[in-house]
Order: sequence, then structure tokens, then C-alpha cells
Amino acid sequence: METSNKTWSGRFTEPVSDLVKRYTASVTFDKRMAEVDIQGSLAHAAMLNQVGVLSDEDLAAIVTGMDEILQDIRQGRFEWDIDLEDVHMNIERRLTEKIGDAGKRLHTGRSRNDQVATDIRLYLRGASDDIGGLIRELQKSLLALAEKHAATVMPGFTHLQVAQPVTFGHHMLAYVEMLGRDAERFVDCRRRINRLPLGAAALAGTTYPIDRHLTAQLLGFDGVCENSLDAVSDRDFAIEFTAAGALTMTHLSRLSEELILWMSPRFGFIDIADRFCTGSSIMPQKKNPDVPELVRGKTGRVNGALIGLLTLMKGQPLAYNKDNQEDKEPLFDTVDTLVDTLRIYADMMQGVTVKADAMARAVRQGFATATDLADYLVKKGLPFRDAHEVVARAVRYAEEEKKDLADLQVVELATFSPLITADVLNVLTPEGSLASRDHIGGTAPNQVRAAIERWKSRLAL
Ligand code: ARG
Repeated sequence: METSNKTWSGRFTEPVSDLVKRYTASVTFDKRMAEVDIQGSLAHAAMLNQVGVLSDEDLAAIVTGMDEILQDIRQGRFEWDIDLEDVHMNIERRLTEKIGDAGKRLHTGRSRNDQVATDIRLYLRGASDDIGGLIRELQKSLLALAEKHAATVMPGFTHLQVAQPVTFGHHMLAYVEMLGRDAERFVDCRRRINRLPLGAAALAGTTYPIDRHLTAQLLGFDGVCENSLDAVSDRDFAIEFTAAGALTMTHLSRLSEELILWMSPRFGFIDIADRFCTGSSIMPQKKNPDVPELVRGKTGRVNGALIGLLTLMKGQPLAYNKDNQEDKEPLFDTVDTLVDTLRIYADMMQGVTVKADAMARAVRQGFATATDLADYLVKKGLPFRDAHEVVARAVRYAEEEKKDLADLQVVELATFSPLITADVLNVLTPEGSLASRDHIGGTAPNQVRAAIERWKSRLAL
């Protein structure tokens, strides 16, 4: 057994089959954590040296060896070996090949259990920061579109039926708000990600006089996980991260659905730049919104990852179990999906052309100012329920006449209520309707502009 590659094989009397080897190995995917693994090892070694467990010479050799390994990995020269199971053992074995016994001393007072938990946290900390930056870029691109269309009128919908006029800028700002909360969620879960598991060792802590606060400080963690069993076993921080990702994707899937609808000739509200669309191999007239459709579809992957992780954690006894090795692929897939989606989205939104004429026509087709007429009557003293009834009758009449409310003559309108006089025309136009919703959160163009300014200062733009 001396010749085996496995670092733990001393107590085993038969080798594992190739199938079991492949089944239990994680190096094919966890090699993605190589850089943070090395970062964690260097901090651990520095700490061991500080507390007198590792000599200066050993530390120096580890630092040099790891540096070479890092270069090899970055340049694609490092050969990952499935016999060595995972990223941790691959790197440790290479280190030992390079520097001898000092490499074997690195694992003093540590276990792969606290090592892997540390790696995931370091990895997700970086991913949270990257994603936060990308969300900001997308918000920027939506803000630019909102600014251009702060006064562009479009129908606002409820139940996908024309409800009231809104501005396209206001509609874009709704997504800026959603993404703002998404970014907050990543910042918030980062606080719980950013605690150090190292020192928990396998599960119970270690007999060496370690200084966990020093390791935490070296790695930029805000503090240490204060229970060793919890430190190696829970992945709630990863679940939270994925939940934040699932919500972000869910928001983007809603925007995608709207882009798809708006781009359909039935709506004809927008156009998406050709580079985000594809044609059909059989129908020459087609221009399909592939990117938004894929975003909508990929939301399923991330939602699936969230359910997968919750299910993985459910019912696991303390402390570490190999089940947890299954946390990585859904996490990595979540990160990749989010990063790609956010990047492509920021670019795509810059390539959206708004067809203001079509939007304005649609507003005039759905009695979008009916509520404004009711409010007008209320302001003249009619109770709201009665006003609602008057307007309902007027709408029925207009429908029969195949006209919009704004197209009716004042005398025609006055037949429904004596309170209706010439000044009614101000409230029946979409512009009048927009302008009158003039409070924070309302769709009036000057409120939309004010909201854009608030976001710009919040995002330091
Ligand atoms: N590859 C393992 C994982 O991802 C590392 C920890 C293994 N620990 C163990 N005791 N087998 O979870």
C-alpha cells in the first residue's frame, strides 16, 4: 500500500475500483477552487509558524512551492490526477513532490473538512463581489434606457390587460429596484459567508495551539465560525447565496418574458439588436429573441440548484458528510449562469430600441385613462363607487362607438354625468394621466427623473 497515491490508504487492504474512484472524486470540478485553496493553505502555514508549530524554513519552502504550483495552474501546466481525489490532495501532493517533508507538515492541525469549507467561503466571497459589480452594470444600463424614456408613454398592465398609462422609464426603474434588492441580498449573505472555518479541523478542533483569529485576519474574514461542528458541516451560506441568485434570475426571467412579448409583432413595442437574436432554419421571416428566452430557461437551472442544495443539506447528521461534496457543481453552475446572464443582459439592454409610436397607440386602445376620469369625478364631489359606475357606462358606450375615451366629445361624456365639463380633456390624455401621478414612486415623468437621480447617487454614477 506504500505505493498508493491516496494519502489515507494506509488502513485499507484493497484498492478502490476505477468506478468508485471516479464516483467519489471531485477534482474534475473542485479544481476551480485551486487558487483559494492555496490562499487558505498559505494563511494556515503562516499561522502555524507564528504559533511555533511550523519552522521558518518549512514556511519559506511552502511559500515558494505554492508559488510555483500557482504559476503552473494559471498556465495550465498542472496535471490534475483523479487518483488524488480532490483539489486539496492534488495540490498537497505536488507540494510534497516539490519541497519534501515541509509539504507533509502543511496539513498539521487541519483537515480537508475545514479546508474545503474555507475554500467554498473564499470562492463565494469573490463571486458575491463580482456579481454585485455586474448587477450594478445592468442597473446602469437600465438607468440609461429609463433616462432616455422618462416621458415615453406606454400602457401599464395588470392581468396583461391595459390598465393605466405609465412611462417606459418607470417600467425600467421597477427592474432597477428589484436588482437593487438583489444586490443587497448578496451583500448581506456575504457577511455570513465571510467567517473562518479553519481550525475546526475534522470536527472537534485541534490539539495544536492555533490562533484562528490570526488566520481569519490573514484571509480577510470578519471573524471565525465559533463552533467546530457547525463550521465543517453547514452550508447554509451557500444556500443563501444560491437563493439570492435564484431571485436575481427570477427577476430577469420576468424582464425576459416582457421583452419577448414586447418584441412580438402583436405588441411591436421594442426591438432587440440582431446580435441577441437568431433566425429560423425554415421560416425566413423569423427573428427570435433567443437570449431572453434562454435567460427565462436558465432561471430553472438556478432554482433547481437552490432546491438541490436544500435537499442535500436536509437530514444530514452533524458533522461533515461526504454528501457535501455535491454542493459544488450546483454552486459553480449558479455562479456561471449569473455571471454570464448579467453580463449579456447589460449589453442587451443597451441594444433595445423603443417604438414609442406603437406604445402610444396601444395606450389609446385600452381605455387606459378610465381611472383618471373616475378620479376627476371624485374631485368634483362624486363618491368613488358612483364615479366608477359612471365611467363604466362611458367605457361601454365608447366601446360601442369604437373610440377611446379621449376621442369622445365633451357633450357625449356629459350625458353620463353633469359634473363632466370641458376641463375633462386634460385628464383623458395619457400625458395628463402620467403628469398627475406626481408623488414619490409615481409614474409622472418628473418623478421618474427624480428616481433616476436617486439611483445615480446611490450607485455613485
Ligand atoms: N472533496 C471533499 C468535499 O468536497 C473534501 C472534504 C473531504 N473530507 C473527507 N473527510 N472525505 O467535500
